[in-house]
Formats: sequence, C-alpha cells, structure tokens
Amino acid sequence: MSNTFGKLFRVTSFGESHGIAVGCVVDGCPAGLELSEEDIQKDLDKRKPGTGLAGTTRKESDKIKILSGVFEGKTTGTPITLITYNEDQKSKDYSNIKDVFRPGHADFTYDAKYKGNRDYRGGGRSSARETLARVAAGAIAKKILAKEGITISGFVKEIAGITCENYSQKDIDRIYTTELRMPDKDAEEKAEEKIKEIIMAKDSVGGIVEVIAKGVPVGLGEPVYEKLSGEIAGALMGINAAKGVEIGSGFSCAKMTGSKHNDLMQTENKKISFLTNHAGGILGGISTGEDIVARIAFKPLASIAKEQKTITKDIKNTKIEIKGRHDICVCPRAVPVAEAMLAIVLVNALMEFKARE
Ligand SMILES: Cc1cc2nc3c(=O)[nH]c(=O)nc-3n(C[C@H](O)[C@H](O)[C@H](O)COP(=O)(O)O)c2cc1C
Repeated sequence: MSNTFGKLFRVTSFGESHGIAVGCVVDGCPAGLELSEEDIQKDLDKRKPGTGLAGTTRKESDKIKILSGVFEGKTTGTPITLITYNEDQKSKDYSNIKDVFRPGHADFTYDAKYKGNRDYRGGGRSSARETLARVAAGAIAKKILAKEGITISGFVKEIAGITCENYSQKDIDRIYTTELRMPDKDAEEKAEEKIKEIIMAKDSVGGIVEVIAKGVPVGLGEPVYEKLSGEIAGALMGINAAKGVEIGSGFSCAKMTGSKHNDLMQTENKKISFLTNHAGGILGGISTGEDIVARIAFKPLASIAKEQKTITKDIKNTKIEIKGRHDICVCPRAVPVAEAMLAIVLVNALMEFKARE
C-alpha cells in the first residue's frame, strides 16, 4: 500500500477512520517557515465533519497537534509529524458491514487485496477520514506557495446537475462562509432543496468541484513524462470518490474547433498575456503563467440507507441497509481536500523548478 505522495515535499499519511488517530509525516519542508497549529487548524476546520446539510453528522473537533519538525514557531527542515486523535467513533454502527461488502465502496477490493485483513470500522483506511492528513499537509504547502505569491482557491461548481453560473471572484473568496461552498446563491438554494429530497429518499448525489491556482510562474512542470497536467490530474483523481478530472476546457474541447479553442496571445510593453484560458494554465505540460484551473467530478457516495443487493465475505447473496453517519454529497467537504492536493503538486513542481535554476 503506498501511503506517500510527492517527491521533494513528501507526505506520508497514517491512520484509520475508527482507529486511535489520523495524521501524516511531511518530509522535505524547507527550514525557517513560520508554522503554527493554528495555520493548519484553519484549513482542517473547512473539512471537518458535522457541519453543513450535505455532510455527515459525525462530530469531530479535528484538533491538530504538531509532534515534530517545528521549533520556536519555525520549521527545522526535519520531518513534521501532524496528528489528530479520533473522538466520535461509533463502530457498532458499522458491525453490519463486517462481513458484507457495501456496493460502490472499497470493502470488496480491500478485502480481496489484503486477504481479509481489513479494519472495516467506518471504512478503515478507505474512509475519507484519511483526507484530513492531506488537508493538514496541504496547509503547509499553501504557506510555502504563498511566499512565492501563489494562491489556491476552490468551490463547488455543481451539485446534482445544479450548476453555478453567476458568481464573481469575491463570491469564491467568501466560499467558506457558505453552507454548500457554492458561490452562486440561487444555485445553492436549489441544491439545498435537492439535498433535502435526497435525504428523504435515503440516497446520495454527486457533483463537481473546481480548484484554481493563481500567481503560478511560467515554466513549472516537465514537458514529457511528468507533465504538470498529468501530475495534477493524478493527484485529484486520487481523492476518494473522484471519478473524473478535467483541466481548462476539459471534455468540452472535444466539441470545439481549433480557432475557438486556441488561447490567442498578445503583448503590451513586453508583458505577455492570453485572451482566453482554455488551456487551464498549462501548455506542453508546463505552466503558462495563467490561472491553473481544474475540475473534479465526484460520484454520489456509496453509503446510502436504501436497501441494496450485495454479497457476503463468504460469497453468498444478501441485502444491506447501511447504517452509520455518512455524507450525502461529498463536494462541500472535498473542496479543501482538492485545494490541498493541488497545493502539494505545485509545491513539488516549484521545488523542482528552483532546483534546476
Ligand atoms: C470528504 C469526503 C467524504 C466522504 N464521505 C463519505 C461517506 O460519508 N460515505 C461514503 O460512502 N463515502 C464517502 N466518501 C467516499 C469514499 O471514501 C470512497 O467512495 C471510497 O473510499 C471508495 O473509493 P472510490 O470511490 O474512490 O472508488 C467521502 C469522500 C470524501 C473525499
């Protein structure tokens, strides 16, 4: 099982949903970066369960502790260990999935791959509780990027087919004050109504999250095998429940002509700009200096209360009604996770870029 992500800025996460703790070790963070628990907590609070209509009702304070790698408020260049103790596990809610595979979840594949050695409680390692570690590490990556003028933001673009159409950068900047992390108020109200219907129907819904990086210099990323687009797509596809990633025009480019799709270039006083950004800030695997824009399609979550057909561990047909506390739509809580993964990719690309300067 690979639990490490990144090359120069490396994140190794550990922990299970209903185990003692979840956390990560971040290796490769430069010395001298001012870092406090509050810096990390700010981002963790955006992902926390127990907030929002679409989220699980599990109550976790998700209080982060820095165990190593920071001395007198600054990083020392040694491994940074971050840990959060689990508090609100209700493992008995999950006893009915001990020997039964939840349709659409990872129970079957984990069980097969690890020969039945699986912490089933709350989904164990396959639970999105692991994404807490990504957000914690991402908070450090964001701090490194901010020093270089690179900022990352994200929002929910669509829930259950209801798309945000009318919004400004200001709406994106205040996204964490909204319930569903949608910048378009009308769309958010419609999505709230839809989610209420879905809860009544004991079901779940999918959606789309968009992430944007601003201030990225020209030249990050490799031109052939480790294209920046590929690294970003891989990182975002690696988020639990992600089913598709697109960059810039994404899948819509397949319906366009070259003359509509090309981002025309111009210059004024030697300053280069593009008239559009269908490329999503990347050409030939290398950043163009325009905003990097990526979108992730998330599936409707697997754990639904409706009765479903499935099989048992000893290969018999059965039916399951999933108990426990689950998200209805993953998107609002996935926004900080997507921001974190983009930040970790960009910090690695930035470090490689600087190493070759
Ligand atoms: C923030 C977040 C919260 C999630 N919450 C749940 C949940 O409450 N119930 C559930 O069945 N899946 C949830 N998931 C998705 C599962 O972790 C994921 O579907 C499962 O591990 C199977 O992996 P896959 O969907 O990537 O194939 C969540 C995902 C994220 C990113």
